[in-house]
Order: sequence, then C-alpha cells, then structure tokens
Amino acid sequence: MHYHCRPSWMIKENQVTDESLFLNRRKVLAGMGIGAGLALTAGAATALPAESSFAQPVGLNEVFGDAGRQVTDESISSSYNNFYEFGSSKGIQDEAQALKSDPWTVTIDGLVDAPFEISVDELISKIGVEERIYRHRCVEAWSMVVPWVGFPLAKLVEMAKPLSGAKFVRFQTFMDPSVASEQRASWYPWPYVEGLTMAEATNDLTLMVVGAYGKVLHKQFGAPMRLHTPWKFGFKSIKSIDRITFTDERPVGFWESLQDREYGFWANVNPEVPHPRWSQATERPLSGGDRIPTRLYNGYGEQVAGMYGDLPTEVGERFWR
Ligand code: MTE
Repeated sequence: MHYHCRPSWMIKENQVTDESLFLNRRKVLAGMGIGAGLALTAGAATALPAESSFAQPVGLNEVFGDAGRQVTDESISSSYNNFYEFGSSKGIQDEAQALKSDPWTVTIDGLVDAPFEISVDELISKIGVEERIYRHRCVEAWSMVVPWVGFPLAKLVEMAKPLSGAKFVRFQTFMDPSVASEQRASWYPWPYVEGLTMAEATNDLTLMVVGAYGKVLHKQFGAPMRLHTPWKFGFKSIKSIDRITFTDERPVGFWESLQDREYGFWANVNPEVPHPRWSQATERPLSGGDRIPTRLYNGYGEQVAGMYGDLPTEVGERFWR
C-alpha cells in the first residue's frame, strides 16, 4: 500500500510516407511548412526552442485530418503537461529536457513468438509515420487538439507476433531517478504503467506517437514514443515507453493502483459518469473560450463503441472507470 500525496490533477476542477524519408529523423530542416496541423497553428511556434524535424513532410491521414475543433496552439499544449516523473505541476517543460530520448530502445516481450529489442528509429523506418489530428480529453476536464505524428499500434502488434494466449498489452515508461526527479518519491508506484486489451491495442484509432506539429516529439510530450488513445481519458496515453509486454493478465495502471475508484482500467470518456469529485459533463479547451460539452467516447464512438458491447457483466458495469 502506497502512502500517497494527492497530485494537483487529482484534486482540481474540479498516409504513411516512404521509409527512406525517415531514416534521418533528427535532421533539422529549418523553416519547413510541415503538415496540416502546423499550417493551422502557423506563427505559434516561434517562442519555442528549436526542435528536430522529420526529414520530409509527413503525410496527413485524411480519415483523421479534421478533429472538428481548432488545433491547440503548440506553445500552449507543450507548456501545460502532465508528466509526473518530472514534477506534479503542469510546468515541467524545463525539467523534462533532462530526458535522454535519443537513442532509445523498446523491449517487446511477454507472450510473443520471440522477445526482441528495437530502436524507435528502426520502428519508424520499418513502419513509416503519418499525421493524425486527434482530440485529447484529460480526466481533469481540460482538453486539447493535437496534430500527432505516429503509426498505428496495430502495426507494432503485428511485428511482435503475439501468442494466442495474449489478452492484454502492458506499457511501461522508463525508470531513471537520476533524470526524473519525481521518481525518487517512494510514495508513487514507479514506473508509470498502462494497459489495453488486444482489441483496443489493434483498433485503428490507437496511435504510437513519435512526433507532434510535424516535429520529433517534444520531451514534455513523452519523447521519443508515447501512446494516444483519444477515446479514453488522457492518463491512459502513457509517455516515454521503453517496454511493451503481451500478457494474459489485466495490467494495473499507475493511477489505478493508487485510486482504482477514480482512475480505472477502462477510462472511456463518458460525460454521464462523473468523476467521484467533479463532473465530466463539460470540458475546458486549453485554447481558451467557453467550456464545451464532453462527448461519449470523446466523439470517437463510431470507431470504438463496438469493442464494448459484449463485455462480461462485472466488467461492463465498470467500464467507464
Ligand atoms: N505518462 C507518464 N509516463 N507520466 C505521466 O505523468 N500523465 C498522463 C499521460 N501520460 C503521464 C503520462 C496524463 S494524466 C495525461 S492527461 C497525458 O499524459 C498528458 O499528455 P500531455 O502532457 O501531452 O498533454
């Protein structure tokens, strides 16, 4: 049992491009107009530190090319982050720069044909990347819209060759208290862990993210590779992943292990199920303006609702939490 200091967010308001194009993903190409997302936020990035760009423009996947809302200005989304390894405030941008995200190797193990390690660069070069504009809804009731760059997790699952007994995918963040100061705090169950069912992991929407706004991922966004499951609350979208394990046991997430009534495994966005301490009916866009209504599955029901129709009763009763 962990003694737990409640973090601020727990108490507040309340087209795939040719692989050769990515072999040098850290080549800085100053002044490139990259991707639709960047075009929408033109002029926003000038105050940000220079970041590495993909060597060539990333193709926009038109199916996910319009989130129906204004893309959040990069200067806002990249300076308001949850990355508890680097602190419990939203302003962890500077601390996160300590993360050594290149080179980076991911271990794929558990119930697979043969475990292996692979670098993020190799994953990008083998699978390729595309841009998708997704809505993101945090359990704290704020939201943003980000043009992510990544590849479908389903492609990585295919590469891993899971055995028939694999029912879940468990993701783990790096563990290095020498760079992530908060990992020295023993009341947290480090490292950060999250999990998905195999159906969720192979759903079309589920994205392994390696970039945003046309550039290699900012460290504070969870460089070099993080998950994004836009129909679930943001805490499911685990950052800086260095281990992916196929398992027959349901993984217990970082926040779930601290407060299972508030941050459960399923965590599907549902405006009708309040968090025990605040309503989930509306959300505050980080880009400003009035609060807006929250939508079931964050508006992605068409893609994901089918996965939840035949859950066993006990799980079905709780699948929002
Ligand atoms: N992953 C790790 N490793 N550590 C974290 O603290 N926070 C989660 C999620 N992934 C978190 C994490 C939460 S609560 C949210 S809302 C999103 O990351 C925030 O992503 P963003 O900073 O890119 O907005």
